[in-house]
Amino acid sequence: MLKIVVCVSGGGTNLQAIIDGIAQGTIGNVRIVRVISNNKKAYALERAEQAGIEGVCVSPRDYADREQFNRALLQKVEEAAPDLVVLAGFLVVIPPELIRRYENRIVNIHPSLIPSFCGTGYYGLKVHEAALARGVKVTGATVHFVDEGTDTGPILMQKAVAVKDGDTPESLQRRVMEEAEWVILPKCLDLIAAGKVTVADGQAHITE
Ligand code: GRF
Repeated sequence: MLKIVVCVSGGGTNLQAIIDGIAQGTIGNVRIVRVISNNKKAYALERAEQAGIEGVCVSPRDYADREQFNRALLQKVEEAAPDLVVLAGFLVVIPPELIRRYENRIVNIHPSLIPSFCGTGYYGLKVHEAALARGVKVTGATVHFVDEGTDTGPILMQKAVAVKDGDTPESLQRRVMEEAEWVILPKCLDLIAAGKVTVADGQAHITE
């Protein structure tokens, strides 16, 4: 059984896709042992409660400085003793210590085809605003392992989504979520739990 902690900051639709995938059996051998949010008001925490999953909030506001927050976040992750940490819309810079302790055991879902529209400042709607401003005809989502950089770790899976005439950032975000994020993140967790993923020399590989 692959025990996962899911880190969230907002609506939690990617968390919900994981919850539903486990319930429907499309994600095998995975158990969410804790949901952690930096935002007390995150609806994702409501989704966790509705699913009977322990939700914990670690808010930077409750700590004197970033170092104390980082220590608290690391502690809340370690307490749950996960095999894998899943960042699902988690708008927090991951502490280097957490990355070191969970090397190649943290995955993130990003709403673009990395290396496009990623890195510092590219999150949420901003990603889709940039894609529309550039006029790309195809965008999508990426699941990647997290390293010390921002959206720079080994790419595990990507899924392309067409940009349509008249798209707004909101309509494009919704399509990328529905057609890509909510498909590849559950798929990646199922593959990792089945032992079909390896990471070597900065590259991730799926062995079907
Ligand atoms: C998603 O677009 C995800 O790709 C990005 O942040 C958003 C989170 O959405 N990282 P949700 O909280 O999973 O609904």
